[in-house]
Amino acid sequence: MIDYFNEFYRRLDRQGPGDDKYTEMAFRLLENLPPEPKILDIGCGSGHQTLALARIAPCEITAVDVYDGFLRKLKDNASQATLKGSITTLNASMFELPFEDEQFDVIWSEGSIYIMGFENGLQTWKRFLKPGGYLVASEITWLRKDIPGELREFWNAVYDEMGTIVEKLHTIEKSGYQPLAHLTLPEYGWLQNYYALMDAQKEAYLNEYGHVGEARQVVESEMEQEMDLYRKYKDYYGYVFYIMRNLS
Ligand SMILES: C[S@@+](CC[C@H](N)C(=O)[O-])C[C@H]1O[C@@H](n2cnc3c(N)ncnc32)[C@H](O)[C@@H]1O
Repeated sequence: MIDYFNEFYRRLDRQGPGDDKYTEMAFRLLENLPPEPKILDIGCGSGHQTLALARIAPCEITAVDVYDGFLRKLKDNASQATLKGSITTLNASMFELPFEDEQFDVIWSEGSIYIMGFENGLQTWKRFLKPGGYLVASEITWLRKDIPGELREFWNAVYDEMGTIVEKLHTIEKSGYQPLAHLTLPEYGWLQNYYALMDAQKEAYLNEYGHVGEARQVVESEMEQEMDLYRKYKDYYGYVFYIMRNLS
């Protein structure tokens, strides 16, 4: 049984907006890490950001996702790359992570914490962090307050924790972390690094699976609507990297 959604996204280099330079900038903001920090990358997908982290510094990364197709691709790419760090992949759900308390120096989550909800993710994952450890999460966020009705309606239906930067910083503090910095991903992190990949894969995907209604739906209705809205309203929302420190 083909998982048409993941089969499409497996073909992409990344499964959400992002940029290696921003991954690196966020990592470089973490001070006084041990020489080989232990990093847990949650919802890693095919691991574009996992590989970026392993290129920057010697580190031990555990990369977790629930889709084997993504994890296989990450393993293949890692075996062919020149990396300073090591990567171990693990199929596990972010809702039930099989780790002891206080195992990691850093938790990393690009475009995935929304699956648990930002607040629930921060609170649930906290116990896996060493005291003073860091959590870095990129999260879709309103960049302005005057959100057009059509846009608010779309995103509120998709994600009930859409909020402003101020609201996210408040959630971070309430959850027992010190907010250290936040970085807003520029437009090219969406348009060039993500949506252009989707456009480029669409034709080949439809040539293979276009006869299946479910597959057509993946690339036609939902994806097109999301891309159209971003192009129209990109000043109003974006991905923001939140960099925070565990206060316990
Ligand atoms: C939007 S993608 C982001 C992937 C990657 N971090 C990136 O930025 O390219 C979200 C990822 O979360 C994974 N995911 C979904 N539910 C999950 C769960 N319960 N536990 C772990 N990962 C999950 C998906 O398979 C997907 O790879």
